[in-house]
Amino acid sequence: MQTITLNNGVEMPQLGFGVYQIPFEETSEAVYQAIKTGYRLIDTASIYGNEKETGEGIKRAINEGLVTREELFVTSKLFILQAPEEKAAETIEYSLEVMGLDYLDLFLIHQPYGDIYGAWRSMVTAQKTGKLRAIGISNFKSAKMIEFVGLNEVIPQINQIEVNPWNQRVEDQEWNEKYGVQVEAWAPFAEGRQELFTNPVLAEIGKKYGKTVGQVVLRWLIQRGIVALAKSVRPERMAENIDIFDFDLSKEDIEKIGTLDRGESAFFDHDAPQQVEWFMNRMLDTEK
Ligand SMILES: NC(=O)c1ccc[n+]([C@@H]2O[C@H](COP(=O)([O-])OP(=O)(O)OC[C@H]3O[C@@H](n4cnc5c(N)ncnc54)[C@H](OP(=O)(O)O)[C@@H]3O)[C@@H](O)[C@H]2O)c1
Repeated sequence: MQTITLNNGVEMPQLGFGVYQIPFEETSEAVYQAIKTGYRLIDTASIYGNEKETGEGIKRAINEGLVTREELFVTSKLFILQAPEEKAAETIEYSLEVMGLDYLDLFLIHQPYGDIYGAWRSMVTAQKTGKLRAIGISNFKSAKMIEFVGLNEVIPQINQIEVNPWNQRVEDQEWNEKYGVQVEAWAPFAEGRQELFTNPVLAEIGKKYGKTVGQVVLRWLIQRGIVALAKSVRPERMAENIDIFDFDLSKEDIEKIGTLDRGESAFFDHDAPQQVEWFMNRMLDTEK
């Protein structure tokens, strides 16, 4: 698996497996199958409701000798907390406990809301004590990322944001890179929205290389130097999505993909009042 080195020297796989929207009862099997297929980066979050089952799939793969813990790169995320920073510390402990892990390879502030500075201080402490190898942010627009970098001593290793052919984030990638923050793409397929998997431009490019639309999209992200997360509950698609390291998209094909950019989210704007309202209604229960 191709890797990328973060600003603190930690190496991470450039392609990963995400478990968002996998029902908790299917997650353990999906994670196990993904590891069996060759994925080493696994991405979950407390708000997904399947951290425990993600941990179970990991444990099964390790127990069966498919992989060692050190070979895996496990990510989770902290959702918006009502309470101050000691609650963030407790939430990190809770994620570790529920997943049955001694450390996480990456932990992210999931949304740019709530006491993000208090949470960050807790994450920095957990990083110093070896509980978190890398720490970062998610869904931070470039202006917010720049403010966050400017007001903290420790710079985030990652900013996990939506990147797909409809929302290519070229300028945002440049801004993050300027500050040493690695971009990680969520929803690389835009969850199939706007008929991504049958898009004629992407299909035509795929035909040239004997590859599918999904493979073209993931390869495009890899060649841009972005870490890509893909989700599928189907083993044949897991295998398809990881089979992207034996071809190179030409400059012309990358330019053609560039023409598909619509410059806006395929989902929602993180600053829209309705969206922030939705987030606030899902604040983590800090009394657990
Ligand atoms: N930080 C954040 O706020 C945030 C937000 C969203 C997602 N994420 C992370 O990013 C990961 C990926 O994003 P996502 O799950 O939202 O969407 P995605 O990976 O863009 O799309 C997943 C969808 O595509 C289908 N699919 C996968 N591979 C395919 C293929 N080769 N051909 C045809 N269909 C295929 C899947 O169906 P099947 O499962 O039926 O195959 C699923 O419906 C998440 O799982 C999560 O870890 C983070």
